[in-house]
Amino acid sequence: MKAAFIQQYGPIEDVVEVGEQPAPPVRPHDVLIEVHSAGVNPIDYIVASGAMRGLMDMPLPMILGNDASGVVVEVGEDVVRFAVGDEVFTRVDPRRPGTFAQYVAVPESYVALMPHDTTFEEAASLPLAALTAWQGLVERAEVNAGDRVLVHAGAGGVGSLAIQLAKQRGATVATTVSADSVQQALDHGADEVIDYRSQNLAETGADFDVVLDTVGGQTQEQSLAVIKPGGLLLSVLPLAPATLEQAAARDLRVEPYFMRPEGDHLADIAELVSVGALKPYVGRRYSLDRTKDALLFSASRRARGKIVIQVA
Ligand SMILES: NC(=O)c1ccc[n+]([C@@H]2O[C@H](COP(=O)([O-])OP(=O)(O)OC[C@H]3O[C@@H](n4cnc5c(N)ncnc54)[C@H](OP(=O)(O)O)[C@@H]3O)[C@@H](O)[C@H]2O)c1
Repeated sequence: MKAAFIQQYGPIEDVVEVGEQPAPPVRPHDVLIEVHSAGVNPIDYIVASGAMRGLMDMPLPMILGNDASGVVVEVGEDVVRFAVGDEVFTRVDPRRPGTFAQYVAVPESYVALMPHDTTFEEAASLPLAALTAWQGLVERAEVNAGDRVLVHAGAGGVGSLAIQLAKQRGATVATTVSADSVQQALDHGADEVIDYRSQNLAETGADFDVVLDTVGGQTQEQSLAVIKPGGLLLSVLPLAPATLEQAAARDLRVEPYFMRPEGDHLADIAELVSVGALKPYVGRRYSLDRTKDALLFSASRRARGKIVIQVA
């Protein structure tokens, strides 16, 4: 089958290839998906660069990609929830990536039926980013009506969905974006937009119940100044020691987390998309042959919404 893969870790421009690779074996709990579209996430270029070696050692060659939408073409002998012909989307097993390919095998527990009236491209843009937003704001923070929520990087893959999820839960939502992304953030429902290039967060005088940090570094540290006592900093990036010290001094809760694949959460997300409460936003499209360009653009940290690779 045709796939985008690496045979060694290193700079994206040197290591990403497109060519023939064996189709994946189908284990008893797996569904085999014929991939139509594959979403691109920062983890794809991070893993290919070798930055995760030691934490996630995968056999090479490794087919890249963690998000997909497509059609089930084969089911393992123990599969009970899906049948051949189902249109599905998934964030695959992180130890078995490979959605930038014609076929990917995924445990059925990581798969859900696609939302209604959604293209393959839109569905592929959702899984990893939407699960990250969902598991932070809904599962951990239990955001509810009346909460004040700050979503960092509201123009990005996670942020654009997190704004919508927090709004859907009844929160008032602020977000950080550059000037070029203001309209996009407002379109996603943000009540307030903070230009992170020209405004100092700590000087905005804002007070939030929950901050979702998808930027890290200084942004993470400055966020503490705008959280109410007892409020919560959620972060998907490493915590600086200073963040922990300052949070403890100000009676703030800090929760770092990694998203995890979860078909049931994806089904909840599909429901929201089906009723129009959550709208996928695909900012750029690439062919499978141009996977390297897609990953280089993702690594630029200038992506708006999601980048999607059209496979079929
Ligand atoms: N631990 C986990 O489970 C987990 C899960 C998902 C993602 N992540 C991490 O979370 C980060 C975000 O992921 P993503 O998929 O949302 O990335 P993304 O789509 O590539 O984010 C790109 C966006 O970031 C914005 N941005 C860049 N610098 C910013 C800053 N200083 N302040 C505010 N916005 C800024 C840009 O907006 P402008 O155009 O407005 O500048 C751009 O739209 C990545 O580092 C990723 O690895 C971790």
